Amino acid sequence: MQKVNWLVLHKNFSLKSLNTFGLDVNTQQYVQVATEEELRKIYLGSKFRTTKKMVLGGGSNVLFTRNWLGLIVHMGIPGIEVVSESEAQVQVTVGAGVIWHQLVMWAVERKYGGIENLSLIPGTVGAAPMQNIGAYGVELKQTFHSLEALELKTGKTVRFYKEDCSFGYRYSIFKGELAGDYIITRVFLTLEKQPVLNTSYGAIEQTLGDLQIDKPTIKDVSQAVINIRQSKLPDPIEVGNAGSFFKNPIVEQAHYEALDALHPDIPHYNLPDGDVKIPAAWLIEKCGWKGHQQGEIGVHDKQALVLVNFGFGKGMDLRKLAMNIMRSVKKEFQIDLQPEVNMV
Ligand code: EPU
Repeated sequence: MQKVNWLVLHKNFSLKSLNTFGLDVNTQQYVQVATEEELRKIYLGSKFRTTKKMVLGGGSNVLFTRNWLGLIVHMGIPGIEVVSESEAQVQVTVGAGVIWHQLVMWAVERKYGGIENLSLIPGTVGAAPMQNIGAYGVELKQTFHSLEALELKTGKTVRFYKEDCSFGYRYSIFKGELAGDYIITRVFLTLEKQPVLNTSYGAIEQTLGDLQIDKPTIKDVSQAVINIRQSKLPDPIEVGNAGSFFKNPIVEQAHYEALDALHPDIPHYNLPDGDVKIPAAWLIEKCGWKGHQQGEIGVHDKQALVLVNFGFGKGMDLRKLAMNIMRSVKKEFQIDLQPEVNMV
């Protein structure tokens, strides 16, 4: 450990507890930042100008295939604050380093609605807009107001409003044309004091029914989502994983019809533009991968979309497994799966 004026720099630092796959990799250099000013110094100062850098939030969307030969900047900007409040709504600002689920719990306790369906999604608040996180019929963009980001070219703080972010399914402009240009430092959400709860997702309806709740509160919906996630998805503390490894593919209507003719049980969601979304988990399961285990890695036995590290797996092997899955889905269904997880 070395103290460089304003920051504590660790050398040859283990990332094992900082990635939810639990992969045992090291980074040459590691620093945690708690303010935007510290980030600015790292990215615009001279010390790390030529160093390869990566911001790490909750480490829940990354697959390290090798040691990181550079600097890991661990996002730690804290704080949840109410900015303004009306009879119907409350606007909150949240530091990028806050754990997403802690924000959800903060909102649920205060009966602020809008993000309860997003309970237990791993990761940090700063990473949430990056891929417009979504689950159980709700996406971040529905409560998103704006964000602040550090512009790496100029060092300025720039505000992006919802319409600036090009949100789509697991997508924002920060993954697309602005990739690598900004670091999200703060997110502003508008939450509802008299929310309309979204319980339309089959599994939520069923869980509330099982609990004999017919007038659910925000807390009930949150708890239902927590129950569902805990029953289907492995807890990264027990089994390393990064949630869905692939995105659900979107195909043209004609492609879907051809598949449906061969596989009448194919689940699908019709999208407003006429295209059709197909659950990647179904495609992967049909190819025989569900519950597959090879040594220390495999495919989760309750959700085929989740790749797992049983303990001592290697990132490179998980990458190879992902490629093999992609190849078999392509061969069987002529569909190119896109990884949701970033492989580095
Ligand atoms: N299915 C299978 N086999 C499986 C699992 C699912 O065939 O092993 C089929 C079933 O037909 C099921 C359908 O896939 O009805 C959908 O499954 P599920 O409700 O579990 O959702 P998903 O489409 O697999 C998406 C998100 C999840 C999110 C859930 C719930 C993506 C890539 N994943 O999964 O997000 O929690 O919906 O809304 O869109 C994540 O991003 O890490 C994540 C977990």
